[in-house]
Amino acid sequence: MVSKAVLPVAGLGTRFLPATKAVPKELLAVVDRPAIQYIVEECVRAGLDDVLLVTASGKGAIEDHFDRMLDLEQALEAKGKHDEVAEVRALAEMARIHSVRQGEALGLGHAVLQAAEHVGDESFAVLLGDDIVDPATPFLERMIAAHERTGLAVVALMEVPEDQVHLYGVADVSPGEEDGEYRISRLVEKPPVEEAPSNLIVVGRYVLPGSIFPVLRDTPPGRGGEIQLTDALQTLAAEEPIVGIRLDAPRHDTGDKLGFLKATVELAAARDDLGDDFVAWLRTWLDVRS
Ligand code: G1P
Repeated sequence: MVSKAVLPVAGLGTRFLPATKAVPKELLAVVDRPAIQYIVEECVRAGLDDVLLVTASGKGAIEDHFDRMLDLEQALEAKGKHDEVAEVRALAEMARIHSVRQGEALGLGHAVLQAAEHVGDESFAVLLGDDIVDPATPFLERMIAAHERTGLAVVALMEVPEDQVHLYGVADVSPGEEDGEYRISRLVEKPPVEEAPSNLIVVGRYVLPGSIFPVLRDTPPGRGGEIQLTDALQTLAAEEPIVGIRLDAPRHDTGDKLGFLKATVELAAARDDLGDDFVAWLRTWLDVRS
């Protein structure tokens, strides 16, 4: 049973300065909830109720978001705002949130390694905060099921245009056991396009065996001088295959400004309470501009 999720949230968020000078990028609101809340909700939907934030100094507000805030609850209570009280309290009850500090930003592999003590030798999921997977699709559930079926490490894959492969971990694959599944024989972190084994890239979802930790401990700095999770997976792939599952759900990449704007529009349009009014306004606005 996979029950633990590790969320690396120690990054500086430099692409969103000055917004991220005093506010962690994970707390920037997509519609009305912080980006990181979508990720924790995804964990909870998939049955992962133990969430470890790998955080850094200056990012304590992320932990506060998932904690009780008694002053706020009392103030809302006094005003008779019972729905809001319930919503605020639910954030503290949705999962058991833990945190550990990364200390130094030495790479994604190093961030995941900080989870070793908390996770032990259990299998666990890693979710990167920049990708919001469409809430209506049980994709993480599928990855966990594939891990439980095979015992192998499982990563999410997606095709991108060739000119983007240098931004990602890239997989060398052959067909897998089920539709949309691959066996990965090799992974390369951010290769130049001419060295990329394919245009199938690793998206920010992993289900990993606890045996990744000793491998990470022995992984030297790689691309960019950082300890790369991809390099540790490549070491694992030399011994046993890694399963890749093609992400078949809409994915919103909030890692840059344009992606963040698109995610905001798409997730607002999908909302029961806002979608119709928002789309009607958007149509009129676009008509006026064209
Ligand atoms: C990280 C991983 C990379 C992966 C990507 C997905 O890179 O190192 O292998 O493809 O996330 O978003 P980053 O985006 O942190 O540079």
